[in-house]
Amino acid sequence: MEFKEAVQRRRMVRHFAPDAIDRAVLERIAAAAQRAPSAGFSQGQRLVIVTDAARRRRLAELAGEAFYTGQGFDPWLSEAPVLFVPAVSAKVYIDRYNEPDKRDPRAGPGSEDEWGVPYWWMDIGCTVMLILLAAVDEGLAAGFAGGDFDAIRSELGMPDDYTPVGVIPVGRPLSDKKSPSLRRGWRSSDEFARWETWQAHRGRLPVS
Ligand SMILES: Cc1cc2nc3c(=O)[nH]c(=O)nc-3n(C[C@H](O)[C@H](O)[C@H](O)COP(=O)(O)O)c2cc1C
Repeated sequence: MEFKEAVQRRRMVRHFAPDAIDRAVLERIAAAAQRAPSAGFSQGQRLVIVTDAARRRRLAELAGEAFYTGQGFDPWLSEAPVLFVPAVSAKVYIDRYNEPDKRDPRAGPGSEDEWGVPYWWMDIGCTVMLILLAAVDEGLAAGFAGGDFDAIRSELGMPDDYTPVGVIPVGRPLSDKKSPSLRRGWRSSDEFARWETWQAHRGRLPVS
């Protein structure tokens, strides 16, 4: 599939066929996700890939599935044949950026507070996007739900320094109830992409 088509087709899906997905397909999605960039090549991102039905049900509960079914959505988290749970460790980044190529040891150890933008959140976002696009590329679809992150960490036996950022159901898409958020519509491309400076965004420069 062309990259542009995968980007166009991607949307958050909230109803999945329960049919199992081949392990090789899940491995390809995981391999795509591993290609995400990371600050200082820290690679603090991890995935837990859950196919066990009982564990998927518990994760669905921790991601608030009852809230969605109460609003008329399908049980989109527990019905999906696989849940990808991406997680990231700030500690991996703090440790990496205390290495000598990143920090003068005379400055003393750096801490989390020094990060104007904590890049571990950016990096795990890149990982998530690759999972979403790789699922589409495999002819499947994906969604995303937040949840009780401490309970999800504990359910999956993750180390304390890893934060799971959500639950990504992947499967064959079925016709679903659309999120009411979509009524907001897309912001205009002019508002989103500004040219040369923030203020000058209305006058696009001619391509020379
Ligand atoms: C960081 C993040 C958190 C989200 N959390 C949820 C969520 O908890 N539940 C949900 O149904 N959708 C969630 N979404 C999906 C958004 O509602 C969805 O991306 C948005 O409405 C645009 O729709 P689209 O992705 O299908 O284009 C989340 C998306 C992102 C990027």
